[in-house]
Order: sequence, then C-alpha cells, then structure tokens
Amino acid sequence: MPYKDHREFFKALEKEGDLLRISKQVDWDIEVGAIGRRNYEQYGPCLLFENIKDYPKGYTISNGTSGTWPRVAMALGLPRNASVREIYRTYDVKLGSKIPPTILEKRSAPCKQNIMMGDDINLNKFPAPMIHEGDGGRYIGTWDIIICKDPVTNWTNWGMYRFMIHNKNWLTGWPQTTSQFAKIFKERYLPQNKPMPVAIVLGADPVSHLMATAPIPLQENEAEFSGGLGGASVELVKCETSDLMVPANAEIVIEAEMQPDKVAPDGPFGEYPGFRSGTMCEGIAVKVTAITHRNDPILTMIALGTPPDDSNIAASLTAAVSMKKGLLRRGLPVTDVYVPPEGVTHLIVVGVEEGGPEIAKKVLEYFCARRVMTNKHIMVGPDVDVFNMNEVLHAFATVCHPGRGIHYEWYEGRANSLTPMYNLKERAALKGCSVIFDATWPPDWNKELVPIKSCFKGIYGQQIQQKVLDNWKNYGFK
Ligand SMILES: Cc1cc2nc3c(=O)[nH]c(=O)nc-3n(C[C@H](O)[C@H](O)[C@H](O)COP(=O)(O)O)c2cc1C
Repeated sequence: MPYKDHREFFKALEKEGDLLRISKQVDWDIEVGAIGRRNYEQYGPCLLFENIKDYPKGYTISNGTSGTWPRVAMALGLPRNASVREIYRTYDVKLGSKIPPTILEKRSAPCKQNIMMGDDINLNKFPAPMIHEGDGGRYIGTWDIIICKDPVTNWTNWGMYRFMIHNKNWLTGWPQTTSQFAKIFKERYLPQNKPMPVAIVLGADPVSHLMATAPIPLQENEAEFSGGLGGASVELVKCETSDLMVPANAEIVIEAEMQPDKVAPDGPFGEYPGFRSGTMCEGIAVKVTAITHRNDPILTMIALGTPPDDSNIAASLTAAVSMKKGLLRRGLPVTDVYVPPEGVTHLIVVGVEEGGPEIAKKVLEYFCARRVMTNKHIMVGPDVDVFNMNEVLHAFATVCHPGRGIHYEWYEGRANSLTPMYNLKERAALKGCSVIFDATWPPDWNKELVPIKSCFKGIYGQQIQQKVLDNWKNYGFK
C-alpha cells in the first residue's frame, strides 16, 4: 500500500502543499459542508477540520481525499502530474493482480483502540456534519466503505453508500435496488426476515475507498483488488458483533444490522448528480450494534455535489475501466472509454477503431444491459483522443449527424431515480432512456468524402510536422 491509512496519506499531501489544516473553530452544522463545497469549486486542497464546535480536540473531519486527479495519482503510487490516461492504465493493469488480505489479531488493530457496546453506543460522539442545507439529517457515511456478506457463498462485498443518523444508535441507508449491497439484502436476508450485518467504515487507506466505488463483478472481493492496486495486502480485522472483516487501520467502524422489517425517513441529500435529491424518502433502518474507533478519529466526509469532487473523480476512474472491459468482452472495437468527471457518470465517451450505426447500436446495447444505467454516450473515431474533451466536443458538434447519428432506447424498472432530467412519474417507475451520439465517420463513406481535419496532426504532412517539432524550442517556445 503506498499509504496504509488516511493519516499517512495526509502527511504526504501536506509535504506536497495539498492539505489545509483548518484550526479556526467551525460548526458541524452546515459550515463544514459549505467550506468543503466552495473549496472543491475553487480546486482547493484536501481539508482537515481540526476544531469542531461542540466536540473535543482530536475529533476531526476530512474532506477531499480523492477530490483531484493528482491525489488519486498519489494514492496509486504515481507522480502527481500523471495524466488521466496514465491513471486509468495503471488502475487497469494493477486490477489484474489481486493480493489476498491479511488478517490481524484484534489487539494489534488500530481501529480497536476504543470500543463502544450496548448502552455506551453513541453516534453523536462523532462530529457527523449536516453537509448541505436541506439535507434530511446529519450524514455520518459519505466517503465510507460499506461491507456486507452473502451468507450462502461467503462472498464479501464492498460499496460506498450514504448513511444518515437518526439517533444515538439508529441510522438509515439508501442502497439503490441495482446495487450488489441491495441484491444481497433482498435475496439472502429479506425472505428470511433476518437482519443483515453491515460495517460502515470511515477512513481506511485511500485505495480501499476508491475500490468501494468500483463496479466489481458479483462474487469478487474488493479487498483483494485493493491489495493488488496498492501493491500490498490490506490488513483486516474481525468485527466485534459479526464475522465481517474490516480494514484494521480504519478511523471509525460502525457495526450495524440492516433491518428487514423497518424503514425510516432518509434524505433529501445533495446528491452526486449535483442536485438535491427530491424529498424525504424511505430508507432502510439500521441498528448500530457496536462502534470501534482510533484515538483522535478522523471522520472522512465528502461535501457531495456538482463537479469536481471525490465522487465524480473516483467514479470516472472505476466506472470507465469496468466499461471498457465490458465492451471489449462483447468483441466491440473499443480503444478507450473516458467518463468525464463533469458528466457525473451520466456522460460516457467511447473511442472505437471503426464506428457507424451498427457499432453504435451494439455499444448502446451494452450500456442498456448494465446493472447501473448511464445516460448519454458519445462515440468517437480513432482521430479523436477520448481524454481530450476539446476534441470530443468538436467531433460531437461536427461529425455526429443530428438525425442519422443518434440512437436511443427506453427501458422500465431499471433507471437511476436520481437522474435529474426524468420527471416524477419516470423516477417512480424507474423509466429511463439512454442515447448514443455517433460522432464517427460512416464506414461506407469513401476516403474523399471524409474531410481532412484542420489540426496540426491532420492537415500537415509528416515532414513539416517533424520539422516543427524538432525546432519547437528553437522558435523560442519553452
Ligand atoms: C460518494 C458516493 C456515495 C454513494 N452513495 C450511494 C448510495 O447511497 N446508494 C447507492 O445505491 N449507491 C451509492 N453510490 C454508488 C455505489 O457506491 C457504487 O455503485 C458501487 O459500485 C456499489 O458497489 P456494490 O454494487 O458492489 O455494492 C455512491 C458512490 C459514491 C462515490
């Protein structure tokens, strides 16, 4: 692991001048969230709030661990100036080498330094922030890792889900029905009316949080991928009230049970598409069974909203690599997939060696068959760098035919209810639509019909290109 926990990572960020410790007292009620949000919008540093109103010294809140590409590059052991293409590639390559986790004795696990059980359990001991105005409550779980297990196959799943505090030992969660977390709950626990043990982990190593956002296939264990990505085994330790294994270096671990027969109000929340999620809805009630935490615990938070923030940067990486693999598995001539953070996973760019309507429809078919629905897809040809939105938008504007180049598909019961442009009826029925914009040249056009692109690499011959490149510094450029 380049960094075994958030503390090590923060030290490294500090050396790079990319961590701001805020020692002025701030209010957990809205102020922390508002500062975090403005800081994202100003492309500011990672934040550590060290003086929280109503809380003793040592109880801190962080914001923005993975809120920029340089921070994600560092977490993966790359130089801070690594390009997004390099970050994607490294993630993809390292995902191929899984390393099984190591199990620690409880007494050597930092997350067991303090243990609250029974009547001592009190979620309000931590400065969970009221992040946005209009949120339904104080969200303790935002930049978290949520762990649960399939009791039949013993498969452990990690995900990232929001969790809101109700009182000192009750929370609500809002897992979308398409998530693996919801699937395990629905298939293994609900039919038997049994509570599902879960662990809400705050402040593990930065790579493990990235992995929690990844759409990893069923029966695959995120802890092993996390080890592979970080280049070292993730250290896990057993929970106090269940047999779930949690990252031993975590700051705070909330052990709980999802109730099969209880719902409670959840939300609204300033959600990842960059809008407040409708009104209060029914969340699943979760009873806390134990809390363990390090001395001077750091509560990892994200002030979720419009880009850029940790959510859209992390999802850009983890979703794109999984989509590229999926498209290639279908035999499609895909060169690269980019999920621009600005599009909050609603916009996907797909590069292909050869395009046209047949390929476009097959690419759309793939996206419509995915578990997590995406919305708009731009397909570009080999003359466009998928990571360069200037080139992508240029192709979208000039090559995509507004009639022939657009294909779409409606579906019911599977749409993402947080998609802002769906009306209330569509959200309730999970009725959605996905579209692909084919910005590739029709394969049946002969060479003469395809215009020469008036850019350095397109309109100038090899010889003059080389001459200009060779003399670039001589012309006076730096
Ligand atoms: C900051 C953040 C918060 C998220 N909150 C939720 C949530 O509350 N409910 C949900 O269904 N998905 C949420 N997601 C998306 C899931 O984490 C993501 O789909 C993940 O792949 C789910 O993993 P799983 O299907 O293996 O359980 C969130 C993602 C991020 C980055």
